Amino acid sequence: MKTALVRAAVAGGLLCMTASLLLAPGSAAAGAGPGRDPGEGSYNGLALTPPMGWNSWNKLRCGVDEEDVRGIADAIVAKGLDELGYRHITVDDCWMANSRDAHGDLTADPERFPSGMKALGDYLHARGLKFGLYGSPTQGTCQKRPGSYGHERQDARRFADWGVDYLKYDWCQTSPEESPDMWADFPGHTQKQLARVLFPRMAKALQETGRPIVYSLSACCEDLGFPEWGRSTANLWRTSTDISDTWESMLANFEAAAAFPEAAGPGGWNDPDMLEIGNGGMTDTEYRSHLSLWAMLAAPLIAGNDLRTMSEETRRILTNRRVLAVDQDERGEQAAVLTRENGRWVLSRRLADGSRAVALFNATGKEQRLATTAEAAGLPGSRHGYRVRDLWSGRASHTAGELSATVPAHGTVLLRVARR
Ligand code: GAL
Repeated sequence: MKTALVRAAVAGGLLCMTASLLLAPGSAAAGAGPGRDPGEGSYNGLALTPPMGWNSWNKLRCGVDEEDVRGIADAIVAKGLDELGYRHITVDDCWMANSRDAHGDLTADPERFPSGMKALGDYLHARGLKFGLYGSPTQGTCQKRPGSYGHERQDARRFADWGVDYLKYDWCQTSPEESPDMWADFPGHTQKQLARVLFPRMAKALQETGRPIVYSLSACCEDLGFPEWGRSTANLWRTSTDISDTWESMLANFEAAAAFPEAAGPGGWNDPDMLEIGNGGMTDTEYRSHLSLWAMLAAPLIAGNDLRTMSEETRRILTNRRVLAVDQDERGEQAAVLTRENGRWVLSRRLADGSRAVALFNATGKEQRLATTAEAAGLPGSRHGYRVRDLWSGRASHTAGELSATVPAHGTVLLRVARR
């Protein structure tokens, strides 16, 4: 057995990766390891790779106004994030006025969006960006703005008239007190049964407009569980409760989505929620893990920070092309968890060119040595070994088979491994 040693420093120069030959030349590892057929098709032909963009909620909440959104759009273009794929700009809850107008139409909040939503959509489209809005299938949004219940076709038409390209559809105000008309129409239904009716109802209404609109379900958990019907209805579906800008929340949302790898595939994606990168509650090491894990999950990458004022390190994290390429890989296969032992995770994701993305993720509070092999990651045996790229440091190396690294607390070493 031959041994080769490779050392690769990651960003801070702290990490050391040792690769040693584990596979005897010619040993047959072909076909081993993870590899399942990703879910087939897209119900509307959209989102063949996970959507990328920005959403107002994580940073701006109900304070978002049209000046913010235009400023974010300008920053996206000025900083070249659009060219990397960050194109869908979504105004989350609170864009609407408190009540519908005399025709029963939704209208923009007059204080914060005085120019109206069509003007905002035009502004985004003029810059090559896509326009996203938020709504709710019940009689109210989470922030008690009007919901679309009973107005689905009217609202879908209005969205299409405004040039909306993306709808995030939530699940709030679900009690009989908050949505009395809805419950009067569906006596005795469970929330789960009701969701099964109302989310497809909006999907149909959107399709009837004839405008391509990416459809994002923000419905999950407690009463609803995992929407195994997601792919036939939408392009992405939440797999956990709301993310917050903490390590624990990010980890919990990662774990929830990691449990459903077979659900993801071109056109339909598990959504562990929007990114918190750059919002200040985690360290840069943790934010690099956040992006690494979302990329392994083939998750939508919806930035949730203030892109106008982000730090250089935040910009570097969000714009790492090598990591984004894993997320956007056209095969669309979500990573499999190879091992998970006391917070020490190894994940492998099969990529379209036959290589594997391998994440050595240390969720513990102490530095850890993590290791796997190319064979365990699903690569076929190779007499000449494997090429390895560390996607954060950019460092190239080779290995006969072993993939290992000393990973700092809460850090992730993300590798792309291919046969030589
Ligand atoms: C939550 C949703 C968040 C955000 C918020 C707005 O239900 O999960 O992402 O949209 O509502 O009120």
